[in-house]
Amino acid sequence: MLQIFAVQMKEKMSPAVFNRLLNESSLERQKKAQRFVKYEDAARSLIGERLAREAIARHTGMSVFDIRFAENKYGKPHVIGWRESLYFNVSHSGEWIVCAIDIRPVGIDVERIIPIDLQIAHQFFSKQECVQLMSMPAEQRLPYFFEIWTMKESYIKADGRGLSIPLNSFSINMSRSSAELFIENGRSACYFKQYDIDVSYKLAVCSVRAVFPERIITMEHASFW
Ligand SMILES: CC(C)(COP(=O)(O)OP(=O)(O)OC[C@H]1O[C@@H](n2cnc3c(N)ncnc32)[C@H](O)[C@@H]1OP(=O)(O)O)[C@@H](O)C(=O)NCCC(=O)NCCS
Repeated sequence: MLQIFAVQMKEKMSPAVFNRLLNESSLERQKKAQRFVKYEDAARSLIGERLAREAIARHTGMSVFDIRFAENKYGKPHVIGWRESLYFNVSHSGEWIVCAIDIRPVGIDVERIIPIDLQIAHQFFSKQECVQLMSMPAEQRLPYFFEIWTMKESYIKADGRGLSIPLNSFSINMSRSSAELFIENGRSACYFKQYDIDVSYKLAVCSVRAVFPERIITMEHASFW
């Protein structure tokens, strides 16, 4: 069953914890973390892998440190050496690091709501999405932009091709209480759910199944670092 885990990086990670997480990460993650200019970005990256390990260990019974990863050609990580169907996806923004795990393809995206020029929608949103955005009352446009943005990102991440799918090549149609995905050939069988993780953030999950958990499992960071 689909599960969603989240951890909040409330304060700056101590160098001791950083080094421990670094040593406990895969070699690829170590290289990636060391390439970041900003300490916080490296810390988020290390926590992302660690949160995925925790989620996968809970789901499979594997030991956190025995889990090995590989990536598809678009950079989406998956677990190797586990024979049953297993999919996970990680996202991080600001203080939050989240991970979705399921037996079917899943994508997740969390974004901090920051002030942006909404004209950017013309570049990344479909025509219908732009019309819907501009029909919202002015004060609701920014949160709505991030709502649609996280759903779009969760879709390209569930698919696994990431940003090689042009963001304006498909459309999220908000009808009543549900969101529907329209691609070139018509409606697509993908489902979305948004979660209220934090007033300053938007979080969306995309799944090929219409069954979502009611709640996110928030982990205390003390439980794993
Ligand atoms: C995946 C992508 C949409 C991420 O968007 P983002 O909002 O900036 O970042 P998020 O925090 O939501 O997600 C990042 C995580 O998504 C996962 N991810 C990476 N590529 C992914 C993909 N193609 N599909 C799904 N998930 C992916 C990773 O776990 C990554 O975590 P990490 O950076 O700590 O390793 C975007 O970076 C992308 O499309 N990358 C692919 C680029 C590519 O094609 N590269 C070619 C191979 S090198």
